[in-house]
Amino acid sequence: MELKQQGSESLIELQQSLLESYNEYKESGLSLDLTRGKPSAAQLDLSNNLDGILNKKFTLQDGTDVRNYGGITGIPDARKLGGEMLGMDPQQVMVGGNSSLTLMYQYIAFALLHGVEGKESSWKSQADKSGSPVRFLCPVPGYDRHFTICEHFGIEMINIDFTDAGPDMDQIEAQVAADPMIKGIWCVPKYSNPTGHVYSANVVKRMAGLGKIAGDQFRIMWDNAYSVHYLNDQPADLTNVYSEAVNLGTEGSIIITGSTSKVTYAGSGIAFLCASSSNLEAFQKYLSAASIGPDKINQERHVRFLKDINGILAHMASHQAILKPKFDLVQEILFNNLHNKNMGEWTVPTGGYFVSFETLPGLAKDVVRLAEEAGVKLTPAGATYPYSQDHSNRNIRLAPTFPELHELEKAMNVFVLCVQLASVNQAITASTPETSD
Ligand SMILES: Cc1ncc(COP(=O)(O)O)c(C=O)c1O
Repeated sequence: MELKQQGSESLIELQQSLLESYNEYKESGLSLDLTRGKPSAAQLDLSNNLDGILNKKFTLQDGTDVRNYGGITGIPDARKLGGEMLGMDPQQVMVGGNSSLTLMYQYIAFALLHGVEGKESSWKSQADKSGSPVRFLCPVPGYDRHFTICEHFGIEMINIDFTDAGPDMDQIEAQVAADPMIKGIWCVPKYSNPTGHVYSANVVKRMAGLGKIAGDQFRIMWDNAYSVHYLNDQPADLTNVYSEAVNLGTEGSIIITGSTSKVTYAGSGIAFLCASSSNLEAFQKYLSAASIGPDKINQERHVRFLKDINGILAHMASHQAILKPKFDLVQEILFNNLHNKNMGEWTVPTGGYFVSFETLPGLAKDVVRLAEEAGVKLTPAGATYPYSQDHSNRNIRLAPTFPELHELEKAMNVFVLCVQLASVNQAITASTPETSD
């Protein structure tokens, strides 16, 4: 029976029994964490053969000594590997340091302050001339660190809703056409963080077309962080945005990033940025003021370890074997405790690192607080929105990858209990007539 249909006595009875279980958890001294999307130790172990794999062979076929300075574009075989992983020609791939987020940050700094085609083209100088701030479109809920980059640089963020097929392209096209100071959009096109969306072919095609209607130096930040991170039998299909853009002559608007952070080691992987030749050239020139080249030893290690796309997919199957039971467990606990109760909705992702949960309006913060008081840390409510402002206070990002299965089970049991308790508390408040002094 839905909460709204229950009388206040039965609601209070329900609240009492939920509170009893809740207090038991509280007293049991739990300390569990469902916050950041990190790989577990078992996943990291899958890549331990990276260690020592070079066996002192530091010279590449072309004679490059990977121990020495140089090679800002990355070594050829690592560019090829990144190209296979992200569906790009190696010529369009540069291999950076250990983090795609760093490359994104650097690209935004470059476009904003330096200008992708010289100082006059910088987003900042356009903003100064027009008197309007630089703006970015942000499909929500999204990846908090994208929003932090914008906030850090004072780029104004505009929320965009999702449809089942991906971000709402009608909203996006209307906004972009109306405002030339919208200089970019954040996209996680495959197994989106946190919703798990895989953008449909039509959404990808329309994204590729934005360069035709947007203001100057508009960039689509295509963060394909989860391109090979599948949970089903095989990875979902994602239409190639760069090929679509080449067909339309808009490839200059596409900046694609990815990394092996969740393939090999998070924080010690290799990161890729793919773009048109002129975009790559300009960005590398900018970067060369800050670096004499990336860690080529790690690039060569990754090439030897992963080999090619087949090697990557075989490796990702081992990740899947570890992750699938965790994601299945999360779904099972959500379904068994919340299905048909009208206390929230959640996604069933086919890949990626997250499950996105929507509480009843106004309850996300309460659920996070209740869970924390019972010893289960959740990602702060609102974190998945620009400026940490989820106006309907509904979204909670669940990250099941890191804890062991038995810890995940406990944490999820506490989570569903907190959702139930917060929902019942709200129903009781709503059913209590207001008194006036
Ligand atoms: C969408 C997305 N992009 C990028 C990253 C970070 O990638 P990297 O480790 O390559 O900086 C993450 C990590 O959670 C992510 O979820």
